[in-house]
Amino acid sequence: MTRYHPALVALHWLLALMILGALIGGAFSLDPIPEESPDKIGVLRLHMIFGLAILALMVVRLIVRLRTPHPEPADIGNEALNQVAPWLHWLFYALVFGLAASGIAMALEADLGAIVFGGAPGPVPELDTLTPRAGHGLFALALALLIAGHVGAALYHQLVRRDRLMRRMSFRRD
Ligand code: HEM
Ligand code: HEM
Repeated sequence: MTRYHPALVALHWLLALMILGALIGGAFSLDPIPEESPDKIGVLRLHMIFGLAILALMVVRLIVRLRTPHPEPADIGNEALNQVAPWLHWLFYALVFGLAASGIAMALEADLGAIVFGGAPGPVPELDTLTPRAGHGLFALALALLIAGHVGAALYHQLVRRDRLMRRMSFRRD
Protein backbone atom coordinates (compact mmCIF):
# COMPACT_ATOMS: atom_id res chain seq x y z
CA MET A 1 0.00 0.00 0.00
CA THR A 2 1.73 3.16 -1.23
CA ARG A 3 -1.05 5.73 -1.00
CA TYR A 4 -4.26 6.60 0.80
CA HIS A 5 -7.61 5.48 -0.62
CA PRO A 6 -8.86 7.93 -3.35
CA ALA A 7 -11.97 8.70 -1.28
CA LEU A 8 -9.72 9.71 1.64
CA VAL A 9 -7.55 11.79 -0.71
CA ALA A 10 -10.65 13.62 -2.02
CA LEU A 11 -11.93 14.19 1.52
CA HIS A 12 -8.48 15.34 2.72
CA TRP A 13 -8.24 18.14 0.16
CA LEU A 14 -11.92 19.13 0.28
CA LEU A 15 -11.83 19.30 4.09
CA ALA A 16 -8.48 21.12 4.08
CA LEU A 17 -10.13 23.93 2.05
CA MET A 18 -13.32 23.92 4.12
CA ILE A 19 -11.52 23.89 7.49
CA LEU A 20 -9.17 26.70 6.44
CA GLY A 21 -12.24 28.64 5.23
CA ALA A 22 -14.06 28.13 8.56
CA LEU A 23 -10.96 29.09 10.58
CA ILE A 24 -10.25 32.25 8.58
CA GLY A 25 -13.93 33.19 8.25
CA GLY A 26 -14.59 32.54 11.97
CA ALA A 27 -11.63 34.57 13.22
CA PHE A 28 -11.57 37.45 10.72
CA SER A 29 -15.16 37.76 9.52
CA LEU A 30 -17.54 36.39 12.19
CA ASP A 31 -15.80 37.19 15.49
CA PRO A 32 -15.17 40.94 14.81
CA ILE A 33 -18.86 41.66 14.01
CA PRO A 34 -20.64 42.92 17.17
CA GLU A 35 -23.64 40.86 18.30
CA GLU A 36 -26.03 43.82 17.92
CA SER A 37 -25.12 44.31 14.24
CA PRO A 38 -27.78 43.06 11.76
CA ASP A 39 -24.92 41.50 9.71
CA LYS A 40 -24.10 39.07 12.54
CA ILE A 41 -27.06 36.74 11.84
CA GLY A 42 -26.20 36.12 8.17
CA VAL A 43 -22.48 35.50 8.79
CA LEU A 44 -23.32 33.25 11.76
CA ARG A 45 -25.78 31.29 9.60
CA LEU A 46 -23.06 30.68 7.00
CA HIS A 47 -20.54 29.69 9.69
CA MET A 48 -22.93 27.27 11.40
CA ILE A 49 -23.98 25.58 8.13
CA PHE A 50 -20.32 25.32 7.07
CA GLY A 51 -19.27 23.98 10.49
CA LEU A 52 -22.02 21.34 10.48
CA ALA A 53 -21.06 20.31 6.91
CA ILE A 54 -17.43 19.93 8.08
CA LEU A 55 -18.63 17.76 10.97
CA ALA A 56 -20.66 15.49 8.64
CA LEU A 57 -17.77 15.11 6.16
CA MET A 58 -15.31 14.49 9.00
CA VAL A 59 -17.48 11.60 10.27
CA VAL A 60 -17.52 10.12 6.72
CA ARG A 61 -13.75 10.63 6.57
CA LEU A 62 -13.19 8.87 9.89
CA ILE A 63 -15.23 5.87 8.70
CA VAL A 64 -13.28 5.75 5.39
CA ARG A 65 -9.98 6.10 7.29
CA LEU A 66 -10.85 3.23 9.64
CA ARG A 67 -12.14 0.94 6.88
CA THR A 68 -9.55 1.36 4.09
CA PRO A 69 -5.93 0.19 3.99
CA HIS A 70 -3.35 2.97 4.29
CA PRO A 71 0.43 3.31 3.84
CA GLU A 72 2.93 2.59 6.60
CA PRO A 73 3.74 5.68 8.71
CA ALA A 74 6.24 7.92 6.86
CA ASP A 75 9.88 8.26 8.02
CA ILE A 76 10.81 11.87 8.74
CA GLY A 77 14.34 10.91 9.81
CA ASN A 78 13.80 11.34 13.57
CA GLU A 79 12.55 8.51 15.80
CA ALA A 80 10.64 10.73 18.25
CA LEU A 81 8.83 12.56 15.44
CA ASN A 82 8.06 9.24 13.74
CA GLN A 83 6.42 8.04 16.97
CA VAL A 84 4.35 11.17 17.49
CA ALA A 85 3.21 11.81 13.87
CA PRO A 86 0.36 9.22 13.73
CA TRP A 87 -1.03 10.60 17.01
CA LEU A 88 -0.92 14.11 15.60
CA HIS A 89 -2.99 12.89 12.65
CA TRP A 90 -5.62 11.60 15.09
CA LEU A 91 -5.43 14.92 16.94
CA PHE A 92 -6.82 16.58 13.78
CA TYR A 93 -9.97 14.51 14.12
CA ALA A 94 -10.24 15.25 17.88
CA LEU A 95 -9.84 19.02 17.39
CA VAL A 96 -12.36 19.23 14.55
CA PHE A 97 -14.89 17.20 16.59
CA GLY A 98 -14.13 19.42 19.62
CA LEU A 99 -14.76 22.55 17.51
CA ALA A 100 -18.05 21.21 16.18
CA ALA A 101 -19.19 20.04 19.65
CA SER A 102 -18.35 23.37 21.32
CA GLY A 103 -20.01 25.26 18.42
CA ILE A 104 -23.20 23.20 18.77
CA ALA A 105 -23.09 23.65 22.58
CA MET A 106 -22.92 27.45 22.10
CA ALA A 107 -25.83 27.33 19.66
CA LEU A 108 -27.94 25.31 22.14
CA GLU A 109 -27.01 27.44 25.16
CA ALA A 110 -27.92 30.71 23.39
CA ASP A 111 -30.79 29.21 21.33
CA LEU A 112 -29.06 30.47 18.19
CA GLY A 113 -31.01 28.07 15.94
CA ALA A 114 -34.24 30.04 16.55
CA ILE A 115 -32.64 33.38 15.60
CA VAL A 116 -30.36 32.16 12.82
CA PHE A 117 -32.66 29.63 11.11
CA GLY A 118 -36.13 30.09 12.69
CA GLY A 119 -36.68 33.82 12.05
CA ALA A 120 -36.94 34.62 15.80
CA PRO A 121 -36.25 38.32 16.47
CA GLY A 122 -32.58 39.25 17.09
CA PRO A 123 -30.18 40.51 18.03
CA VAL A 124 -27.81 37.60 18.66
CA PRO A 125 -27.15 37.36 22.44
CA GLU A 126 -23.69 38.09 23.87
CA LEU A 127 -21.52 35.13 22.75
CA ASP A 128 -18.24 35.77 24.59
CA THR A 129 -19.81 34.93 27.98
CA LEU A 130 -21.10 31.50 26.86
CA THR A 131 -19.43 28.57 28.65
CA PRO A 132 -18.21 26.73 25.47
CA ARG A 133 -16.99 29.95 23.75
CA ALA A 134 -13.48 29.81 25.27
CA GLY A 135 -13.11 26.13 24.30
CA HIS A 136 -14.17 26.91 20.70
CA GLY A 137 -11.52 29.65 20.45
CA LEU A 138 -8.81 27.43 21.99
CA PHE A 139 -9.64 24.46 19.74
CA ALA A 140 -9.49 26.81 16.73
CA LEU A 141 -6.08 28.15 17.79
CA ALA A 142 -4.72 24.63 18.43
CA LEU A 143 -6.02 23.47 15.03
CA ALA A 144 -4.41 26.44 13.24
CA LEU A 145 -1.05 25.64 14.92
CA LEU A 146 -1.37 21.94 14.07
CA ILE A 147 -2.11 22.79 10.42
CA ALA A 148 0.97 25.06 10.29
CA GLY A 149 3.16 22.24 11.68
CA HIS A 150 1.52 19.71 9.33
CA VAL A 151 2.15 21.84 6.23
CA GLY A 152 5.73 22.44 7.41
CA ALA A 153 6.25 18.68 7.86
CA ALA A 154 4.74 17.91 4.42
CA LEU A 155 7.04 20.49 2.78
CA TYR A 156 10.06 19.14 4.72
CA HIS A 157 9.31 15.63 3.44
CA GLN A 158 8.75 16.82 -0.10
CA LEU A 159 11.53 19.40 -0.52
CA VAL A 160 14.27 18.42 1.97
CA ARG A 161 13.97 14.64 2.28
CA ARG A 162 12.63 14.42 -1.29
CA ASP A 163 10.67 11.26 -0.41
CA ARG A 164 7.64 12.24 -2.57
CA LEU A 165 5.32 12.11 0.44
CA MET A 166 2.70 14.22 -1.38
CA ARG A 167 2.05 11.27 -3.70
CA ARG A 168 0.58 9.35 -0.78
CA MET A 169 -2.13 12.01 -0.57
CA SER A 170 -2.73 12.25 -4.35
CA PHE A 171 -4.66 10.37 -7.06
CA ARG A 172 -1.54 9.61 -9.11
CA ARG A 173 -0.99 5.94 -9.91
CA ASP A 174 2.71 5.97 -10.97
C1 HEM B 1 -6.98 21.97 7.23
C2 HEM B 1 -5.97 21.42 6.71
C3 HEM B 1 -5.53 19.97 6.86
C4 HEM B 1 -5.97 18.96 7.68
C5 HEM B 1 -7.07 19.01 8.73
C6 HEM B 1 -5.17 17.78 7.36
C7 HEM B 1 -5.28 16.54 8.00
C8 HEM B 1 -4.57 15.41 7.66
C9 HEM B 1 -4.70 14.10 8.29
C10 HEM B 1 -5.64 13.78 9.46
C11 HEM B 1 -3.87 13.25 7.65
C12 HEM B 1 -3.67 11.73 7.93
C13 HEM B 1 -4.59 10.94 7.02
C14 HEM B 1 -5.97 10.82 7.61
O1 HEM B 1 -6.11 10.22 8.70
O2 HEM B 1 -6.93 11.36 7.04
C15 HEM B 1 -3.18 14.01 6.63
C16 HEM B 1 -2.23 13.51 5.78
C17 HEM B 1 -1.50 14.26 4.88
N1 HEM B 1 -1.62 15.62 4.64
FE1 HEM B 1 -2.94 16.86 5.51
N2 HEM B 1 -4.27 18.11 6.37
C18 HEM B 1 -4.48 19.44 6.04
C19 HEM B 1 -3.81 20.18 5.08
C20 HEM B 1 -2.74 19.72 4.34
C21 HEM B 1 -1.96 20.51 3.42
C22 HEM B 1 -2.21 22.01 3.09
C23 HEM B 1 -0.99 19.69 2.91
C24 HEM B 1 0.11 19.99 1.92
C25 HEM B 1 0.93 21.00 2.00
C26 HEM B 1 -1.19 18.36 3.48
C27 HEM B 1 -0.46 17.25 3.19
C28 HEM B 1 -0.68 15.99 3.69
C29 HEM B 1 0.07 14.81 3.29
C30 HEM B 1 1.20 14.76 2.26
C31 HEM B 1 -0.44 13.73 4.03
C32 HEM B 1 0.03 12.27 3.99
C33 HEM B 1 0.95 12.07 5.16
C34 HEM B 1 1.41 10.63 5.27
O3 HEM B 1 1.39 9.92 4.28
O4 HEM B 1 1.81 10.23 6.39
N3 HEM B 1 -2.26 18.43 4.36
N4 HEM B 1 -3.61 15.32 6.67
C1 HEM C 1 -15.97 22.47 12.74
C2 HEM C 1 -15.50 23.52 12.19
C3 HEM C 1 -15.48 24.90 12.81
C4 HEM C 1 -14.42 25.75 12.77
C5 HEM C 1 -13.06 25.50 12.13
C6 HEM C 1 -14.83 26.96 13.48
C7 HEM C 1 -14.01 28.08 13.66
C8 HEM C 1 -14.35 29.20 14.39
C9 HEM C 1 -13.47 30.30 14.68
C10 HEM C 1 -12.01 30.42 14.20
C11 HEM C 1 -14.16 31.21 15.43
C12 HEM C 1 -13.60 32.53 16.00
C13 HEM C 1 -12.83 32.14 17.25
C14 HEM C 1 -12.12 33.28 17.90
O1 HEM C 1 -11.79 34.28 17.23
O2 HEM C 1 -11.89 33.18 19.13
C15 HEM C 1 -15.49 30.68 15.63
C16 HEM C 1 -16.50 31.30 16.36
C17 HEM C 1 -17.78 30.78 16.52
N1 HEM C 1 -18.27 29.60 15.97
FE1 HEM C 1 -17.20 28.22 14.97
N2 HEM C 1 -16.12 26.81 13.93
C18 HEM C 1 -16.57 25.57 13.54
C19 HEM C 1 -17.83 25.03 13.77
C20 HEM C 1 -18.88 25.69 14.38
C21 HEM C 1 -20.22 25.17 14.56
C22 HEM C 1 -20.69 23.77 14.09
C23 HEM C 1 -20.95 26.13 15.19
C24 HEM C 1 -22.40 26.12 15.61
C25 HEM C 1 -23.29 25.23 15.26
C26 HEM C 1 -20.08 27.26 15.42
C27 HEM C 1 -20.44 28.42 16.06
C28 HEM C 1 -19.59 29.47 16.36
C29 HEM C 1 -19.98 30.61 17.18
C30 HEM C 1 -21.35 30.86 17.82
C31 HEM C 1 -18.83 31.42 17.29
C32 HEM C 1 -18.69 32.73 18.11
C33 HEM C 1 -18.73 33.91 17.24
C34 HEM C 1 -18.46 35.18 18.03
O3 HEM C 1 -17.96 35.15 19.17
O4 HEM C 1 -18.77 36.23 17.48
N3 HEM C 1 -18.82 26.96 14.91
N4 HEM C 1 -15.58 29.45 15.00
